[in-house]
Amino acid sequence: MPTMVALVLLLLLLLDGKLAWSAKEGQFDYHGFAAGKLTLDGSAKVMPSGVLALTNSINPPNGHAFHPTPLRFIQESKTVMNTAVVARSFSTSFVFAIEDEYHGLSCDGLAFVVSPTTDFSTANRRQYLGLLNATNGTPNNRILAVELDTIMNTEFHDINSNHVGIDVNSLVSRQAKTAGYYNDEDGAFRDLTLSSREPMQVWVDYDGQVKRLNVTLAPMQMSKPKNPLLSEAIDLSPIMVDMMYVGFSSSSGTIIAHHYVLGWSFSLDGPALPLDFSKLPTLPRVDTKTRSKILGIMLPLTTALVVAALLVAVFVFRRRRFSEVREDWEYEFGPHRFAYKDLFHATNGFKCSNLVGVGGFGRVYKGVLPASNFEIAVKIVSHDSRQGLREFIAEVVTCGRRPFSMDENNHRIVLVDWVLEHQRNGSILDTVDPRLIGNCNTEEAILVLNLGSFCTMSDDSSVTVLLEGR
Ligand SMILES: *[C@@H]1O[C@H](CO)[C@@H](O)[C@H](O)[C@H]1NC(C)=O
Ligand SMILES: *[C@@H]1O[C@H](CO)[C@@H](O)[C@H](O)[C@H]1NC(C)=O
Repeated sequence: MPTMVALVLLLLLLLDGKLAWSAKEGQFDYHGFAAGKLTLDGSAKVMPSGVLALTNSINPPNGHAFHPTPLRFIQESKTVMNTAVVARSFSTSFVFAIEDEYHGLSCDGLAFVVSPTTDFSTANRRQYLGLLNATNGTPNNRILAVELDTIMNTEFHDINSNHVGIDVNSLVSRQAKTAGYYNDEDGAFRDLTLSSREPMQVWVDYDGQVKRLNVTLAPMQMSKPKNPLLSEAIDLSPIMVDMMYVGFSSSSGTIIAHHYVLGWSFSLDGPALPLDFSKLPTLPRVDTKTRSKILGIMLPLTTALVVAALLVAVFVFRRRRFSEVREDWEYEFGPHRFAYKDLFHATNGFKCSNLVGVGGFGRVYKGVLPASNFEIAVKIVSHDSRQGLREFIAEVVTCGRRPFSMDENNHRIVLVDWVLEHQRNGSILDTVDPRLIGNCNTEEAILVLNLGSFCTMSDDSSVTVLLEGR
């Protein structure tokens, strides 16, 4: 009987210990992130393999992933004299990889974040890492971040484009160092390239008693180097509120760099459980050798082809743009012709801001002929519109004379003055091309002439040019 009781007691004790272990408050580990476990927003998503991809798009540019429940980051510290609220010790490690879509062109990296909120809707992209906006943080933000930064932002006094930094309520790091680690054997510093696509492990350890934060970096398979990369004397108590979220933030800019997290372990008040690398998902693998080989052949070839195609397109476009069609009527009514190219330039390429009106048969643009500084109005009539063309011919020629010509006595006749004079004398009908009389509506012809002369009123140097467009 006493043995039974002892056994039951032992069993209960064991069970209790096991339960306490597995449910230990503030401790968790992820070997891959099977969908649904993390709180995600923006561009962050968990791939079928379990890899967390923080930036997989340019829009939305920011991606966040947080452990779904907040953790109690502060505790009361009682002394004989008083009771204070202090930040608890914590320890975390995670494996990440950063891959540039274009070699050497990265965006701004990723950050491990401790924050009172998971709402970063007012945060900016790019150098703000989806964490802060242009005000760049105030003590109210209460954000601790360890940034793995792959861009040098001079406004934040970044040391280079490949560094690790400790940020508190600001993207200006309190301390930053080039990415790398101190070798345990010889103590020498070994550089690491954050955006090399090689999985690396980061450890972040805070000692709440000594009030010191350490950050250590190493290639994934390596055991934790004894000397941390960064070691900062800091009391996190003023930053922490009762419940804080832990997670990751990243942002893409105008180009995509992929920020992956493969595994993550966290613990309050003690060391985080070591990650089991064999259980981590593998990166969406692109064989870099094949890729670089393919790129090595394809890139110059594609570039050459694209450049050739562009040149041909520009050549054809320019030819088409400035090529002209001669109409039958032109031979009959003389060369009222300005090169399309000149008119194109005179109207700034038929820019919208030069548009002065839209008629039934075409748009009218104002412009200035570069050579003469003549102010002109250019009407574009569709080459295919018969009606537009007929109207156009009626408008051009109505008088059947050139803008400037000589009379019998070798005096220069300016068409506009000549029409205006007839208009004043009430004999405008005399200016209508005799060839049109009987072939067109006389009233319409007079209307066109009146309109034409009206157009010249605002400025004596105005000439109306009517153009066949395409
Ligand atoms: C910047 O972020 C803070 C919170 O961090 C927010 O209160 C503020 O409204 C934001 N400013 C803008 C312009 O979004
Ligand atoms: C931080 O690093 C220093 C120097 O290596 C070490 O003495 C200290 O114990 C470390 N603290 C934590 C919390 O890892």
